[in-house]
Order: sequence, then structure tokens, then C-alpha cells
Amino acid sequence: LPSFSKPRGAFIVLEGVDRCGKTTQVARVVKALHAQGRAAEAIRFPDRTTTIGQMINAYLANATDLDDRVIHLLFSANRWEAMASLRSKLAAGMTLVCDRYAYSGVAFSAAKDGMDFDWCKQCDRGLPQPDAVIYLDISAEAAAKRGRYGEERYENQGMQGRVRENFQKLMEGDSIWHVVDAGVSLEDVSERVDKVVMATAKRVEEEGLQLGTLWP
Ligand code: TYD
Ligand code: MG
Repeated sequence: LPSFSKPRGAFIVLEGVDRCGKTTQVARVVKALHAQGRAAEAIRFPDRTTTIGQMINAYLANATDLDDRVIHLLFSANRWEAMASLRSKLAAGMTLVCDRYAYSGVAFSAAKDGMDFDWCKQCDRGLPQPDAVIYLDISAEAAAKRGRYGEERYENQGMQGRVRENFQKLMEGDSIWHVVDAGVSLEDVSERVDKVVMATAKRVEEEGLQLGTLWP
């Protein structure tokens, strides 16, 4: 029987080290989607508005200290608590462009001493897999030059360099990743991000792709 139900929205994630320009690009591409008449929304992790998000925020601001495993699990819980809403928005046909996801969860936590890469992946197992991950690629040195790192935890070159290596490891052999050089002008990055996002939205719609599951 033919299905007359509305196609689901695409789930697209932007990833990268701090200062790579993700937040700007997420906002721009959501605008571009709206201009095409698509229902689309920007979302982000961590979502600092929830109770768990407030604990994460205090930790990042160095107002509290937590065991490395505890903060890792809170970041993951902050994704799980958003999943009912995320799934229902996608099902209603809304395209979601997400600023960071489980990949940041693994890349940042596993950059710390004594944190096992595979252990870090386990608590995000079962989350919906994005249809595309756009990795804004910039060296730790170039990112540091873009403006001083703020006061938040993790905003230093040593940490960001290890995070970058972990991202490389996560994208190895996974075809949903698209690497975009983020060292060029904002407009040039935007053009490339738009291309991947529009192609993904079209593919999800036309091919009726099912949402995948982490980890592939
Ligand atoms: P960030 O995207 O930089 O937030 P903002 O734009 O508000 O500064 O995220 C804050 C930090 O949290 C960033 O250094 C990456 C880190 N992070 C994790 O360590 N684990 C996670 O699961 C996520 C989503 C982010
Ligand atoms: Mg930041």
C-alpha cells in the first residue's frame, strides 16, 4: 500500500573542536533551509537549560568539580533526555541541525587521562544516528588564533589537539561524515555546509531513509 504519511525530517550534526565556527554555521544553514520553505530547527548539546544541563554548565564554568566518568555520563544523559522530543520533531517532518552530539561526548572525554575510548562510546549506544555529520576541520593552532579561548574547561590547545585526533578516529571508515575545511572564509564554509545539508535533506525525503542507530 502506498504511504501518504509525511516524510521524516533529516537529522544533521555539525562537529568540530571549539572555535571551529559550528554555532555560526548551524544558524546560517537553518536560515537557508527556512528560505527553501523547509521546517527546520537548530538544536545543541549540551542543552544547558535542563537540570542535567545546569550541572554540566557549572562543571564547564569550573564552578564545580566532578569525576571524569560522572561528567561523561551527564553529557550522555543530557542527550538521552532530549530524544523523545528529537524523535517526534523528526517524525513530524522537521529537519534538525544539531550543534555537537555523541561524537563530542567521546572525543572530549576520551582526551582525558585514563578514559577509555570504547568505554566512552557505550552510554550513547542506541541513540539515533545522524543522516550526516559535518566536521568543520581546523587545526588546534588556527582555532586558538581565532580569538582567545574563554574561561571554560577544555578550552586549551593541548586538550583540543587530542580532541581533534579522537574525531579523526571516530570518522574513520564511516561514510556519514563529511569533512569541510573550516580554515577558509565564513561564506565559503557556509556554501559547503549548505550543499551537504540540502543533499542530505533531499536524500532522506526521496529515499525514505530510516533513522539509524549508534554505533554503526
Ligand atoms: P560548546 O558547544 O562549546 O558550547 P558553547 O557553544 O555554549 O560554548 O560545548 C561546551 C563544551 O562541552 C565543549 O568544550 C565541548 C564539551 N562537550 C563534552 O565534553 N561532551 C559532550 O558530550 C558535549 C556535547 C560537549
Ligand atoms: Mg564553547
